[in-house]
Amino acid sequence: MTQTPYDALGGEQPLRELVDRFYDQMDTLPETNTIRQMHAKSLKASREKLFLFLSGWLGGPDLYIEKYGHPRLRRRHMPFTIGQSESDQWLLCMKNALDEMSIAGDLRAL
Ligand code: HEM
Repeated sequence: MTQTPYDALGGEQPLRELVDRFYDQMDTLPETNTIRQMHAKSLKASREKLFLFLSGWLGGPDLYIEKYGHPRLRRRHMPFTIGQSESDQWLLCMKNALDEMSIAGDLRAL
């Protein structure tokens, strides 16, 4: 049996940690302020939703779908203006979060 990326990461706890670090980056880096401003004052709901989504996306429990149905991420992002800069900001937060947890190799390349 091949291991899922979710298992390679270590399951729920490390995934929650990754998502928390991701939003902590967004919350503190001056250069990601544009995308921070798109989010609510509290990032609690965003943390939960990204965790639920990534759980299934990485091959773990399909938590987002169980709770909300199909993610329809394209449609859910429609209300926001997301160009190259916003996309770079999102990736920077994820890159830093992955760095902080020393996640490298195949898992990082996903
Ligand atoms: C390209 C840059 C991106 C920007 C600027 C962005 C921004 C946002 C914003 C402003 C929201 C609404 C607030 C919230 O519900 O948290 C949101 C929701 C969400 N985003 Fe993104 N996002 C980006 C990329 C991504 C990517 C690559 C993923 C998946 C890996 C993702 C997954 C989600 C999820 C799961 C939600 C919650 C959807 C729901 O309402 O149920 N986003 N995003």
